[in-house]
Amino acid sequence: MLLDPGMDLTLRPMRYPDFYERFRAAIRNTWTVEEVELHSDLADLARMTPQERHLINRLVAFFATGDSIVANNLVLNLYQHVNAPEARLYLSRQLFEEAVHVQFYLTLLDTYLPDPDERVKAFAAIQHIPSIRDKAEFCFRWIDSIGSLQRLETAAERRQFLLNLICFAACIEGLFFYGAFAYVYWFRSRGLLGGLATGTNWVFRDESMHMEFAFSVVDTVRAEEPELFDDELGKQVTAMLEEAVAAELAFAEDLCGEGMPGMGVEQMRQYLEYVADQRLARLGLPQRYGSANPFAFMELQDVQELANFFERRVSAYQVAVEGNVSFDETF
Ligand SMILES: [Fe+2]
Ligand SMILES: [Fe+2]
Repeated sequence: MLLDPGMDLTLRPMRYPDFYERFRAAIRNTWTVEEVELHSDLADLARMTPQERHLINRLVAFFATGDSIVANNLVLNLYQHVNAPEARLYLSRQLFEEAVHVQFYLTLLDTYLPDPDERVKAFAAIQHIPSIRDKAEFCFRWIDSIGSLQRLETAAERRQFLLNLICFAACIEGLFFYGAFAYVYWFRSRGLLGGLATGTNWVFRDESMHMEFAFSVVDTVRAEEPELFDDELGKQVTAMLEEAVAAELAFAEDLCGEGMPGMGVEQMRQYLEYVADQRLARLGLPQRYGSANPFAFMELQDVQELANFFERRVSAYQVAVEGNVSFDETF
């Protein structure tokens, strides 16, 4: 079984061809930070109001460490316990993508924050900005929750692992990051920060796939060991998502507490609740909030991103894209 401890090295016969196909699909999405032109955003930044500028500074400060946290959990926990070589191929590729994301945000901060003191402060946000520190501590708690697990022998240990996996997919990549992307697309909907939006398109696409891979691991484990998915696990997942929504809302309070046209704490609350319900539904759990998506610009996201992606590929590289690349996700 997928969570049985050990180091399976045998690719034939392949037990989980779907994971291998996800690995291949991810390779077709390769992009580099050098393709993103960020300097064109500087004129927009110079025209922004102090509130908008504050929002952007906080947002990039969150981006400075978010993907490094995900990469660490991937290496320290996911890779260790998901025991199939084809799944580990996908996780290796994901690790590369997280490294590209880290590089993208490094470049973004270097470009947006030319003042060395401001830049250092932004990179250290995790220590001194409470709304960012709290989100990081939520992540660290879930990393630590299975840090001492060397082997998943018992049902209790496997549930502990599943909670970590679900946390990173549903709450971190699937909620904290989605919240962050919503701010980027709000700016883009007003014709601002096109460079950041371009890079975000590709990060967003990667994150959707990371999340969907993790959920397909959950599906596989559920098919193999349905007894792990008891009511208690469902309650723990729901509570975890509630906590993630609260942490992301505190971040929203910090970013745009006073509110701006089209973006404010109330809209962000609705959006996060809408996203959290989608994650619960994907996991086969009852919806918790019943909120509708207040951000029309997030509904357009998947279509625009896909169009940009193929346009860029064809014009820039002539790389043959085989098969259909589709989003399972509605935003
Ligand atoms: Fe990432
Ligand atoms: Fe990711």
